[in-house]
Amino acid sequence: MVKILLDKINVPGIKSYEVYRQNGGYTSVEKALKKMTPDEVTEEVKTSGLRGRGGAGFPTGMKWSFLDRKSERPRYLVCNADESEPGTFKDRYLMEFIPHLLVEGMITSSYALGANTSYIYVRGEFKWIIKILENAIAEAYAAGWLGKNILGTAYSLDLYVQPGGGAYICGEETALLESLEGKRGNPRIKPPFPAIKGLYESPTVVNNVETIADVPWIVMNGGAEFSKIGVGRSTGTKLISACGNINRPGVYELELGLPVEEFLYSDEYCGGIAGGKKLKAVVAGGSSVPILPAELFMKTAAGEPRLMTYESLSEGGFVSGTMLGSGGFIVFDESACIVRNTWNFTRFYHHESCGQCSPCREGTGWMEKVLHRIEYGKGRQEDIDLLVDVAKKIEGNTICPLGDAAAWPVASAIRHFRHEFEYHINHPEMVMKPEHVYQPNAVLA
Ligand SMILES: Cc1cc2nc3c(=O)[nH]c(=O)nc-3n(C[C@H](O)[C@H](O)[C@H](O)COP(=O)(O)O)c2cc1C
Repeated sequence: MVKILLDKINVPGIKSYEVYRQNGGYTSVEKALKKMTPDEVTEEVKTSGLRGRGGAGFPTGMKWSFLDRKSERPRYLVCNADESEPGTFKDRYLMEFIPHLLVEGMITSSYALGANTSYIYVRGEFKWIIKILENAIAEAYAAGWLGKNILGTAYSLDLYVQPGGGAYICGEETALLESLEGKRGNPRIKPPFPAIKGLYESPTVVNNVETIADVPWIVMNGGAEFSKIGVGRSTGTKLISACGNINRPGVYELELGLPVEEFLYSDEYCGGIAGGKKLKAVVAGGSSVPILPAELFMKTAAGEPRLMTYESLSEGGFVSGTMLGSGGFIVFDESACIVRNTWNFTRFYHHESCGQCSPCREGTGWMEKVLHRIEYGKGRQEDIDLLVDVAKKIEGNTICPLGDAAAWPVASAIRHFRHEFEYHINHPEMVMKPEHVYQPNAVLA
């Protein structure tokens, strides 16, 4: 298995500039600035087939080529390090343990885009990581990788860390830009897309941490080499943060195309279901993607074994498939309660809805309330179809995809586990805490 991001993660002291440099760090900056034009770097990224690792999987080279290079205004690269999706904790791992990889990727990518000022927008709660990144950036300035006329070339770059506003919505790229500009993090109506009118109304690329961290390897080894790893349009490696009822939770780098069965059961990765229990369901790409029952997760409806790729996981669409998303892999064993989990996810989306669009603002709260009453033994039979109806009315009807992200977990849980919702309604004696009254944002017992 090729490792692109984590191959040096266990080298003692790799967090420091000296050790990172001794292990080949910053060579992609040397190569790009001294031997390649910005367009050649962009071409390599295009050839690599790299797709954005923030969730949507949009081809990175294509996104870079959309950047308005004719504009008189400055161009910006903004790294999205807001990582707040439940189940996703891969970016923080990279930033905490090998911060110079992101700094190196930011310099090489900024050069390709012609950006002279770039930002890393980091989830505000990651206070210790902000310090780690600031320290790495200071070391990079001191060593001459940042600042004026880097390596004696005409290229200059300033790199800043911006602590996030403390809300999940600030990870949506246009809300992030609003927040970076000092405003409330509300998503913008698109078009115009950031590539035309982004930060300070200037051409901007927003990329995920992992996406940017892949760029040094692509520059050093070539886009064609990267595209040889993986399967079809899912090229390269992917970080997966695995959690839930498994023996070996953690962050893993795998080559795209690994069979899900191997990822779940091999001792190199998740190590199987904890306590020898049976697998019930998997949320493969962070809380936003549809939940799949074990049988449909392991094999598509057509009986094909599923692979860890964008295409294989989405095989069957929303009827019997899901998404790779941001790689937040949450495993549920046979004892997990799908109703409780759906309520829990929905509480999160209700709490995090920015409130701009009424379907999301009202719908998430409505779903939370209904799920709560089902979970606590006060559900009615018609509640199940009501939830399906509300989810349908949120989906596709909001400015940003937070609405879809809130609707899909509910719709998919009912599609695949309707019997559990019915069981809760038909067995009110199952109520976990009869005295529990509805409290928005209640802390889970
Ligand atoms: C509500 C919401 C939250 C998001 N949070 C993140 C995040 O924390 N990190 C991230 O990279 N992308 C996040 N995204 C996706 C970004 O909008 C954007 O697609 C991504 O940063 C683009 O980078 P990529 O092309 O490298 O994937 C979020 C999207 C939505 C709708």
